[in-house]
Amino acid sequence: MASTPAPQTYRVKSFGCQMNVYDGERMAELLASQGLSPAAEGNDADLVVLNTCHIREKAAEKVYSDIGRLRRKDGSSPLIAVAGCVAQAEGEEIMTRAPAVKMVVGPQAYHRLPEMIAEAQAGRRVTDTDMPAETKFDALPARRKSGPSAFLTVQEGCDKFCTYCVVPYTRGAEISRPFKDLIAEAERLVAAGAREITLLGQNVNAWTGEDFSGRAVGLEGLALHLAKLPDLRRIRYTTSHPNDMTDALIAAHRDNPKLMPFLHLPVQAGSDRVLKAMNRSHTAESYLKVLDKVRAVRPDIALSGDFIVGFPGETEAEFAETLALVEAVGYAQCFSFKYSPRPGTPAATMDGQVPADVMDNRLQRLQDALNRSQVAFNQATVGRRCEVLVERKGKLPGQWLGKTPWLQSAHFVGEAAIGDIVTVDLIEAGANSLSARLVALTAV
Ligand code: 5AD
Ligand code: SF4
Repeated sequence: MASTPAPQTYRVKSFGCQMNVYDGERMAELLASQGLSPAAEGNDADLVVLNTCHIREKAAEKVYSDIGRLRRKDGSSPLIAVAGCVAQAEGEEIMTRAPAVKMVVGPQAYHRLPEMIAEAQAGRRVTDTDMPAETKFDALPARRKSGPSAFLTVQEGCDKFCTYCVVPYTRGAEISRPFKDLIAEAERLVAAGAREITLLGQNVNAWTGEDFSGRAVGLEGLALHLAKLPDLRRIRYTTSHPNDMTDALIAAHRDNPKLMPFLHLPVQAGSDRVLKAMNRSHTAESYLKVLDKVRAVRPDIALSGDFIVGFPGETEAEFAETLALVEAVGYAQCFSFKYSPRPGTPAATMDGQVPADVMDNRLQRLQDALNRSQVAFNQATVGRRCEVLVERKGKLPGQWLGKTPWLQSAHFVGEAAIGDIVTVDLIEAGANSLSARLVALTAV
């Protein structure tokens, strides 16, 4: 079979969660280390990597329409690789349904992209969805670039097996990356300009490791060690599981101001029967107790969560319990979804699948409640003096956009630069952002 010329330019398109964003950055760095350059905005790329999400059906189906749209201006097809969780879950199907795809690579195998590209150039279609014991992280080039806010995967995979969720199948069993590797990667990110690092994991607060003295530590130990890096000013982590919110991690929110007052702690539903059917292994009450503990040490904590409406068998009364929980918590922001049956998960074959119109109606009511909660949270912060990490320029002249400690988007006008941590007064709240007045170019 004819060989194709080596790709010179690449584009990585990531969908779904923040871990995919992280993986996408690492794939881009790997391709750059092989001599490829990112395709300029508006130009065709020789190699396109679609880094996909399998969490809900809509996200998974998107990959096929995206592949169809990848023709180049001259009518030819770029070299296409499908990566991410759809690749892991539906590798063979992709190869059958989409002849234009030359490479399918799972989330634990993308360090092998260079070899796969060589194979594809030689005319062979290649699939690699292995979950090798030796980790991809060791094989990837060291980090050299970073914006002011960086992601760092510390934990991957999930052993919880919630009955609706594909993650344990697509990302595999829980693994924690070693402490020393994480400190090294964080140091490089900070040297490259990161002022904030968000530690990522499907169950990030289940991370465990041994610190430099050989002591077993949890996520709090890692966060507190990272907090010693002088130029690292903010630490966040996501996504946490309610059952893994240890007292030590909660205490770290009290003891270390670099740990930002924001907690993404999904509850999924407010009814204990539904939570049990979801195999969540917590109740609404035990979840609220965790929040109480966190609020006791960090009263200003901004809370976030994920919700699923229309889980099989969910009744109107059970859904009302979700609404009641939302009222009780006062979330700062949340994600909410209609239940989507995923192949191979226990819930997909449960009785009582909820009709689409009922799900639509519940999602609408839930989102109305969550929006009200978000607006109320934002309004309650008006009048506060706080720090903003400047992330990019705004649309207006002299305008800058950044994040408050509570992860709200804030904009202000003044002389600042990307990566600055400035002091502002929050003066007005919209639904999705706040306007702020610059007080000082330094921290509070
Ligand atoms: N259907 C709908 N939402 C889902 N999520 C996970 N699996 C499904 C599914 N099958 C949601 C959960 C999870 C978030 C990442 O996606 O709320 O916390
Ligand atoms: Fe999926 Fe549950 Fe694991 Fe979260 S905790 S990744 S929802 S199985």
